[in-house]
Amino acid sequence: MSVLVIEGPSPLCGEVVIHGAKNSALPILAASVLLKGETALKSCPKLSDVEATAKILRHLGFKCVRQNYRDEKNAVLISGYPKRNEIPHYMMRKMRSSVVFLGALLGRTGEAKLSFPGGCDIGARPIDLHLSSLRRLGVEINEKHGCIICTAPKGIIGDYITLSFPSVGATENIMLASAISKGTTVIENAAREPEIIDLANFLNICGAKISGQGESTLIIEGVSSLYGCEYRIMPDRIVAATYIACCGAAGGEIVLRNSPNQYILPMLSVFEDAGCVLSIYKNSIYVKAPKKLLSPQMIRTMPYPGFPTDAQAQVMAMAALAEGTTVFVENIFENRFQHIPELVRLGAKIKAEGKVAIVEGVKNLSGAFVKAPDLRAGAALVTAGLAAGGITTIGGLEYIDRGYESIERDVSMLGGKIKRI
Ligand code: UD1
Repeated sequence: MSVLVIEGPSPLCGEVVIHGAKNSALPILAASVLLKGETALKSCPKLSDVEATAKILRHLGFKCVRQNYRDEKNAVLISGYPKRNEIPHYMMRKMRSSVVFLGALLGRTGEAKLSFPGGCDIGARPIDLHLSSLRRLGVEINEKHGCIICTAPKGIIGDYITLSFPSVGATENIMLASAISKGTTVIENAAREPEIIDLANFLNICGAKISGQGESTLIIEGVSSLYGCEYRIMPDRIVAATYIACCGAAGGEIVLRNSPNQYILPMLSVFEDAGCVLSIYKNSIYVKAPKKLLSPQMIRTMPYPGFPTDAQAQVMAMAALAEGTTVFVENIFENRFQHIPELVRLGAKIKAEGKVAIVEGVKNLSGAFVKAPDLRAGAALVTAGLAAGGITTIGGLEYIDRGYESIERDVSMLGGKIKRI
């Protein structure tokens, strides 16, 4: 079993390049099921979730390899065509985002058979919106023994879909299913997350006709075929937010290179309210922690452009050390406070009831043995561990490795005293 060992307090000083976004890479990899010819994905992060997605692609009959490509070390190259349209249970259980293969397989072959997806245990995470939307596109769905069997006997046929909630995964599944289709699909109340824009931009380079990405009304005019292309995945805004939170909590000053600044803007005011100084340049951001961290007061997670649920845990770790009380309201997932008992072990004063958590800032945290209960909770423990006095040992690294290429490499580049043993 590997653990991260952090010797704190460890103020930061250094710079790091932000790696490609997990939540862009996963649906874009799944989208390659739709494509004829070869696709080269640059800046595709080395994450366990990316590897799990690559395994699904290989199982479906695609060649998917990581290799040097032109000026890029470690691009992911995908080629081939789907030889089967069934994904076994053990592959689906690995992560929630495997559900987007449903739309991709339906779009390419008109059939898909897979089981309900797994992922971090942060809530019930139903897929009712995915399934009801696919039904509107002419898909017949049978659910039996935990399996979802889908067929589109007349092909995918465009229609109007209004989502009752702007689900990221459901929006992606509709885009993937309808990119190759007859007619036009309009999604009202579509998710507006930057990763949706990245997926739409990628599909458009492949020949799709998608407009309105980043807005609530997304329009997909069906085309007859899509072709592989070369594409660079956007940088990960949540990884960037994590390192800003680390700097805020531990102190110091850092520079983030290849930072998706435009998409970090909705989070900036929270860090500024905490007293951090942020200077935004074209593709980089300079962060200076304040001498005295202040409470950011109130944080409500919301669909984009609201404050992202994926950064809530890391900012809570920072707020644990801020002067004053911070109220967190988690509106997206019902079980996303799993980091609280672990932060309390490090000395944080946090109480939670339902979707609300109240954090009373303390002067110091002190190192202890803690365990990551999910991906972002793990990142929150790294944030807190850098600020805590003494040794913090973090287990459960299989969660952190789902979304951070090598968190110890990046945090070391930023001057943090961290190692994996
Ligand atoms: C994606 C992200 C995840 C992020 C989340 C919200 C990926 C791989 N994951 O997850 O990191 O935290 O967006 O920004 O991109 N819901 C339903 N029925 C459905 C679908 C969703 O009730 O059919 C509910 C979910 O239970 C949840 C909420 O809607 O409470 C948000 O889910 P959704 O936006 O779909 O998130 P994911 O795509 O799973």
